Amino acid sequence: MKVCVVGIGYVGLVTAGCLAEAGNNVVCVDNDGRKIDGLKKGVIPIYEPGLGEMVQHNEKLKRLEFTTDLKYGVDNSLIIFLAVGTPPMADGSADISAILAVAGGIAEQMRDYRIVVTKSTVPVGTHKKVAELMKTKTDKPFDYVSNPEFLKEGSAVEDFMSPDRIIIGTEKQSVRETLKQLYSPFMRKGNRIIFMDAVSAEMTKYTANVMLATRISFMNEIAALCEKVGADVELVRQGIGSDSRIGRAFLFPGVGYGGSCFPKDIRALIHIGGQNGVEMGLAIAAEQANKASQDRFAKRICDYFGDRSRNVVLAVWGLAFKAKTDDVRESPAINCIKKLLERGIKIRAYDPEAAQTAGAVIGNKIEIVENGYDALDGADALVILTEWQEFRNPDFELIVKKLKKPIIFDGRNLYDLEVVKKAGIEYHSIGRPAVG
Ligand SMILES: NC(=O)c1ccc[n+]([C@@H]2O[C@H](COP(=O)([O-])OP(=O)(O)OC[C@H]3O[C@@H](n4cnc5c(N)ncnc54)[C@H](O)[C@@H]3O)[C@@H](O)[C@H]2O)c1
Repeated sequence: MKVCVVGIGYVGLVTAGCLAEAGNNVVCVDNDGRKIDGLKKGVIPIYEPGLGEMVQHNEKLKRLEFTTDLKYGVDNSLIIFLAVGTPPMADGSADISAILAVAGGIAEQMRDYRIVVTKSTVPVGTHKKVAELMKTKTDKPFDYVSNPEFLKEGSAVEDFMSPDRIIIGTEKQSVRETLKQLYSPFMRKGNRIIFMDAVSAEMTKYTANVMLATRISFMNEIAALCEKVGADVELVRQGIGSDSRIGRAFLFPGVGYGGSCFPKDIRALIHIGGQNGVEMGLAIAAEQANKASQDRFAKRICDYFGDRSRNVVLAVWGLAFKAKTDDVRESPAINCIKKLLERGIKIRAYDPEAAQTAGAVIGNKIEIVENGYDALDGADALVILTEWQEFRNPDFELIVKKLKKPIIFDGRNLYDLEVVKKAGIEYHSIGRPAVG
C-alpha cells in the first residue's frame, strides 16, 4: 500500500520503518530539514534497538523515502499518518498546533480521496477539530481515523511488529477494512484489532498511560512506606505481582516515571477532566506522588552528605528516562541531577546512549564521560538513575577500588542486597533496608 507518515520522531520513524518492512511504500515527511537530510544519508536520528538496520535496508530498496515536502507525501499515498509531537502547554493541555497545521496542509494538497490517521496522542475531541478544519480547506473526500500508538521506547520496533492490540477509531466499514489490511502483517500471532469510534480511541490512549503511571506512583509510595516500617518492597512486589488480578508488570519501584508520554498525558487528562467538569483526583494524586518520589531520592542523597555537599563529586550511571533509549525528555535522572547541582554537588555522568541528548540539555553543568568506570575515579559515591542492562552485573571490585568510599545510591534497585553486602559496599536503594 502507499503510505505517508508525517512527523519522523520516535513514533513516526518506527511506524514508517515497520510499514516499509512489511512491503509498503512509505514517504516520510518532516519539517526538520536537518533530520531529513541526515536520514537521506542513512543517519538515524534516535537510538532505538533494531531501528537503524531496518530503516537503512528499506531505504536501499526504495520502500522508504524522506522529504520535507508534504505535497509529495500527499500525492504519493492513500493513507497519511500524523505522528507529530503534541507537547504540553503551560496549563497542562496538549498542544495540537502541529496536528492542525499538518492536517490543514494535507487538505490543501489533496487532489482526491485520502485517509488521515492520527497516531499522535491527542486530546479527546481532536478528531472533530481536524475534520472540521480539513473541510474548510478542501472539497475532496477524506476519512479521519484515530489510531493511538502504544509502542514503548526501547522496544518500539518489537512492539510495532507484534502489538498487544491495535485500536482503530472510525465507524466507517470501508476504512476499517483498509487499515485491517495494512496492519494484517503484524497480527499473525492472533493479536487483536479493536474497532471503536474516534472519541473512545482517543480516550483509550490516555486511560492506558495514566493507569500505568498511577501503578508506578502507587508502588513508589508503597516503597517509601516500606523504608519507614522496615519492609522490603521487592518482596512486597513479588507478593502482589503473583496475584493474577494485579499482574507483574509496572510494579518496579524507582525514581519515578518520566519520558515524553506519561508526564504529559497525565497532565492532559487532568486538563480534559477539568474542561468537562470531572475532577481526575487519582491522576492528580499520581502526578503529585511522582514528583514526591523524584524529590525524595535526591533529598536522601543531599541529606546524606549534608553540609559537605559543596565538596562532593558523584558518579552517575544513567541519564535517559529509562533503559534502551536516548530520550531524556522529563527524565527523572536529569531532574535528580538538577536537584543535586542546586546543592553544589558536582556530577560526573555516564549513559550508554544518551550522552548526546543529555549533553544538549545539561552538558554545560555536568561532566559526561564515555565509560561508566571512568565516572567513578575518586567520586564520593555512585548514583544509579537508569536501569541499563550493562549496569546490572558490574565489576563490584573495581567500583570499590575507584570510589573514595564504596557507597552506592541505587534509584533502580538493580542489586541483590546480599551481593553488595558481600562486596563491602554501603548500599542505599528504594524501599529496601540500607546495607553496610
Ligand atoms: N515517544 C513515544 O514513546 C510515544 C508513544 C506513543 C505515542 N506517542 C505520541 O506520538 C506523538 C509523537 O511523539 P514522538 O515521541 O515521536 O515525538 P518526536 O518529538 O520524537 O517527533 C515528532 C516529529 O514531528 C516533527 N514535526 C513537528 N511539527 C511538524 C510539522 N508541522 N510538519 C512535519 N513534521 C513536524 C518534528 O520535527 C519531529 O521530528 C506524540 O503525540 C506522543 O505523545 C509517543
